[in-house]
Amino acid sequence: MERREILLLLVFSCVYLKCFVQTEKCDPKPLIKKHEGYKQCVYLDTSGKRTIGYGFNMEKAGAREEFIRADPRGHCQGTAGKTFDMFLKSPLTKCSKTCPGCCKDSEISKCLSVPCLDNKYIERLLDSSLKTAIVDAEVVIGNSTFNALCCPVQNAIVNMAYNLGRTKFKDFVKFKAAIEKGDWDKAAYEAKNSIWCGQVKTRCTDISKIIGAGC
Ligand SMILES: *[C@@H]1O[C@H](CO)[C@@H](O)[C@H](O)[C@H]1NC(C)=O
Repeated sequence: MERREILLLLVFSCVYLKCFVQTEKCDPKPLIKKHEGYKQCVYLDTSGKRTIGYGFNMEKAGAREEFIRADPRGHCQGTAGKTFDMFLKSPLTKCSKTCPGCCKDSEISKCLSVPCLDNKYIERLLDSSLKTAIVDAEVVIGNSTFNALCCPVQNAIVNMAYNLGRTKFKDFVKFKAAIEKGDWDKAAYEAKNSIWCGQVKTRCTDISKIIGAGC
């Protein structure tokens, strides 16, 4: 081979190898979307907390920051905080799947007085709270353990962190220990054997099945 050919071969194999070496980026969104409702208006969740979008709890710690982070332009103009406050005080309806189309005729006037969050904003809001959920998963499970897991298990764990929040997720001590050991049966059992599991039902069944299958 000539030097030029060898050089070309080297360049091509580097490009090719890079595709292999590049770590897979896990996407926890589809599973979360499956488990969350989707509403453009504020509603009360089962525990009576003001909620919007993909189950975004407006009353949780850090909710305001996540909401503002989802709107960089509003953040610069200082309007995102005001928008958050408006939704935090907005009247509630039961007719709030999409705005205002899902309203029953008799409820239209009530629904029109309720502010609706833009679909694109709801998507960005999910991205914003996912950032928090991923960091929470990294902290609770341990960063190097978490990032070494395969995507299905990572996604299932992020789903738990998204739903539980860091404080409650931290109580899953035996779960964490089982994940560290790669004992998938035990980890699935620990997820299932919790009060949380009884509350969220399908979500817990899905998650423990994925974790039980392991990496
Ligand atoms: C976990 O590790 C990754 C990669 O090393 C890093 O980017 C990330 O900030 C770390 N997360 C936490 C919560 O420390």
